[in-house]
Amino acid sequence: MLSVTNLQVKYGNTEALHGISFTVNQGEIVTLIGANGAGKTTTLLSIARLGPPEGPKIASGDIVYKGQSLLNVPPHEIVTKMRMALAPEGRHIFGNLTVEENLKLATFARQDTEQIATDYQRVYDLFPRLVERRKQRSESLSGGEQQMLAVGRALMTGSDFIMLDEPSMGLAPLLMYDMFRALKELNSQGMTLLLIEQNARIALQFAHRGYVLDTGAIVASGDAKELMNNPEVKKAYLGG
Ligand SMILES: Nc1ncnc2c1ncn2[C@@H]1O[C@H](COP(=O)(O)OP(=O)(O)OP(=O)(O)O)[C@@H](O)[C@H]1O
Ligand SMILES: [Mg+2]
Repeated sequence: MLSVTNLQVKYGNTEALHGISFTVNQGEIVTLIGANGAGKTTTLLSIARLGPPEGPKIASGDIVYKGQSLLNVPPHEIVTKMRMALAPEGRHIFGNLTVEENLKLATFARQDTEQIATDYQRVYDLFPRLVERRKQRSESLSGGEQQMLAVGRALMTGSDFIMLDEPSMGLAPLLMYDMFRALKELNSQGMTLLLIEQNARIALQFAHRGYVLDTGAIVASGDAKELMNNPEVKKAYLGG
């Protein structure tokens, strides 16, 4: 479904990704784990080609999504036309809008309008906390609830592929498990997920496959279970 090949990315003259390659197959949860500054967010922003003019620039390599190179797709069409959804780091929800308004806004580019009502229901089934807060301004939600809303919004775009940048960030352990259970449920309904995570333990527990990113290079990859038992990974990312 997604195939990234030898992706080299720079900020100005500084190379942040040194030619990374990875794939995501339809129906999978794939996780990209790594420490602060490893290049996780850069990878995601490069795929979605989001960010300010001083943001990441693809120097070489290719990104093929559903059989088409994204390098030839204008950035504004990646989400709307290629139907790739993103739950970005820092959430980026509209604080002055209600939960429902945020969800509605995500549907603007959809052609399959008859499916929208079903998707609202899916979001509220996955995250019951959002039901009670439907009419509440989003800025008054807790951090965890905002994280749920960010995922819900990605779902409302009608995409069958979502990239998530650290959905566990700032969540208390219980809420974190709720979030990952919801993601697993979404996956079992057919959603393909690329999960960027600093929390290797939880990410590998829920993903099918994983890649370890270390200062802009992929240093290990494989089945999630295999990675969890890899001595190097254990030592560096799972606390021994
Ligand atoms: N706008 C920018 N301009 C210059 N360098 C940047 C910029 N954004 C990120 N970098 C650099 O690129 C590297 C990768 O950063 P990135 O944000 O992708 O890491 P990350 O793995 O997402 O880390 P974290 O877990 O802290 O979110 C870092 O060395 C960072 O300093
Ligand atoms: Mg990041």
